[in-house]
Amino acid sequence: MDARLNRFGISAAIPMSLGVALGAASSETASAQQRDEHIESLLSRMTIEEKAGQLTIVADTSRVMAEGINPEANRRKLETLLADVRAGRIGALMSGNGAAAARDTQRIAMSETRMKIPLLFAADVIHGYRTVFPIPLGEAASFEPELAERTARVAAIEATAAGLQWTFAPMVDVARDQRWGRVAEGAGEDPYLGALFAAARVRGFQGGDLRSERSLLATPKHFAAYGAVQAGMDYNSVEISQQTLREVHFPPFKAAFDAGALSAMSAFNDINGVPATGNRWLLTQLLREEWGFGGFVVSDYTSDREMILHGFAADDAQAAQLALSAGTDMSMQSGIYVEQIPRLVASGRLPIEVVDQAVRRVLSVKKALGLFDDPYRSLDPQREARELDMPEHRALAREAARRSIVMLRNEGNILPLRKATRIALIGPFIDDRDNLHGAWTLFGRKQDAITLRQGLERAGATLVGVVEGSSIETALAGGIEAAVAAARRADVVVLAIGESERMSGEAQSRAQIVVPQPQRELAEAVAAVGKPVIVLLWTGRALALQGAVRNAEAILVAWFLGSEMGNAIADVLFGEHGPSGRLPVSFPQDSGQQPFHYNHRRTGRPYTQKGRPEFTARYREVSNEALYPFGHGLTYSSFEYSATRASDASLAWNGTLSVNARVANTGSRAAEEVVQLYVHDRVASLTRPVRELKGFRKLRIEPGQSVEVAFDISRRDLEFVGPDMQWLAEPGEFDAWIAPSSTGGVPVRFTLERE
Ligand code: BGC
Repeated sequence: MDARLNRFGISAAIPMSLGVALGAASSETASAQQRDEHIESLLSRMTIEEKAGQLTIVADTSRVMAEGINPEANRRKLETLLADVRAGRIGALMSGNGAAAARDTQRIAMSETRMKIPLLFAADVIHGYRTVFPIPLGEAASFEPELAERTARVAAIEATAAGLQWTFAPMVDVARDQRWGRVAEGAGEDPYLGALFAAARVRGFQGGDLRSERSLLATPKHFAAYGAVQAGMDYNSVEISQQTLREVHFPPFKAAFDAGALSAMSAFNDINGVPATGNRWLLTQLLREEWGFGGFVVSDYTSDREMILHGFAADDAQAAQLALSAGTDMSMQSGIYVEQIPRLVASGRLPIEVVDQAVRRVLSVKKALGLFDDPYRSLDPQREARELDMPEHRALAREAARRSIVMLRNEGNILPLRKATRIALIGPFIDDRDNLHGAWTLFGRKQDAITLRQGLERAGATLVGVVEGSSIETALAGGIEAAVAAARRADVVVLAIGESERMSGEAQSRAQIVVPQPQRELAEAVAAVGKPVIVLLWTGRALALQGAVRNAEAILVAWFLGSEMGNAIADVLFGEHGPSGRLPVSFPQDSGQQPFHYNHRRTGRPYTQKGRPEFTARYREVSNEALYPFGHGLTYSSFEYSATRASDASLAWNGTLSVNARVANTGSRAAEEVVQLYVHDRVASLTRPVRELKGFRKLRIEPGQSVEVAFDISRRDLEFVGPDMQWLAEPGEFDAWIAPSSTGGVPVRFTLERE
């Protein structure tokens, strides 16, 4: 068993059927004799053009396509596309949907091509297909990887019903800079949480049997360190140490591959000067040789050709040669593989063995998916008619949505509200259906989603005013006056404000991570009326909250919750469901603190609230603490942590130690508390983070009850990547916290003893 599996607490158990499939796909390290005879026989008969075709994926203009998600590049007309399919110049199609049309295209591949190799149909199914679940960042706030596994399973059932066999998900990039818009697509700033969610989503997408018609091939992306782009600007360069790569950015990928993911997507960015798509160290030495990955790597959208703009390749030919040689097996959308590979091989610039190896990988995964036995698997229009948006899928969407909401603040226990409370519902999102799904939902139907107003009305809320007050980024004439008048008539104001869904996601970096100015003005005016304000925050990232928004009586982070957003918010506002989410990203005081993450290394001059702050690591204007730290989230009850202790003062080199605490529900309602374990290495040969999450439990505790919570710690939990890039632990003193957030709790000390 791999050491990393234990580190992330992820089960090593890969289901039998998946294990068999993996066996088929991980044949690359096997000797030639053990190679799959069928695939070898295909390879021996394929022309170089057909081989290059298998390594090519392009937009699926034969079907209804998701539009506007990528720049227009090399889009083929329908006739050209079908001619290319017939000529064997295409191995996979992307971004279309609909089972019937895919079936027709597959029929062409199976009956009108020379080699009769099935096509693979792909799309970005990131957080739901027709039924839309919360954005992945929101779902990570549930701190329930098993919930993400269930939503990914439903996404797979729907997507495979609609003629897809492969998703470009999960996005597992760790994101420590909230200016980066793609924070929304991942699980936040922590590698441990990220690894658990990555593995859960892979299990959910692929299911137990890769050959099943309901299994969706998963693609951990973007390999690697895309979340570390400088200044949080999308597509920017990455300058990073090997240690940080291995400790922070790789663990979710490793966990995803260990969970059985058989494809991976290379990132747009360079890493220390070498673009990921042309990075042999990354895609071959690390991924294949060190980790033993047996699947195939697809480039990101035209990222192979973009190596020319990076200044890393002179032209298409060199870009194709560098990408394929590095280990990028399939080229997405640029078309340079199919154009260049035959010439590169003919001129001797690219050994045929490199091409064959990539084709072997792609065909092995097609085989593992069962496509050679049944090319029409997951291309069944009757199942499509039955299995989209089923009632149980909607029920899960509501459950996932309400479990993703995070309550940051609840002064005077203003929440939950009574149904009779007179509410002024104010803000640009009160009845808006363009901003419920979030970025990267291509196939959900806006008209089917539940708006906030609908949710509140269905729940029987007493609405005494429903006023937009402001548009998202511009003021509305008379908006503030109308909002103030509504607030005056009400007992409380529910203020739905924040970012539009287009303000996070790909290419949506922000320099100022704030609620847009016109909405802040609205918040100030409404708060001045003097009624309690409950802020519902629409967002795809952590925001720096200011003024009346920051000081509102209650703040609920609503993210973008998907098809059931309105119902889920109503459930929480009225206490049908108590909030139980925790922040997977730290909310800073100010935009200028970015990149900001709780698990930063220690400095020689740490900021301290006691004494003089000069000459410490801080800013002049704000303290360098989070406004709301990673792991923070309130419930409708209150909890007290006590008696934190270690079972022993020392941990033997090969032993285990238990850290325990008593957690009591001191409020008057049952609630779910996320009890978190953090550790810190007090002295090490490399400076260590102030804290690192190593475990958590989400526990429902009845009022007046207390439970004993125990976490086992072993040497593995204390390891880090040492100077020679190996995981190691060093004997010495450690602190452990059992805490409600990354800044709470009282540490207990123990010593790791050398054997
Ligand atoms: C994104 C990927 C996505 C791909 C295909 C790219 O622009 O970076 O995350 O999977 O497009 O749509």
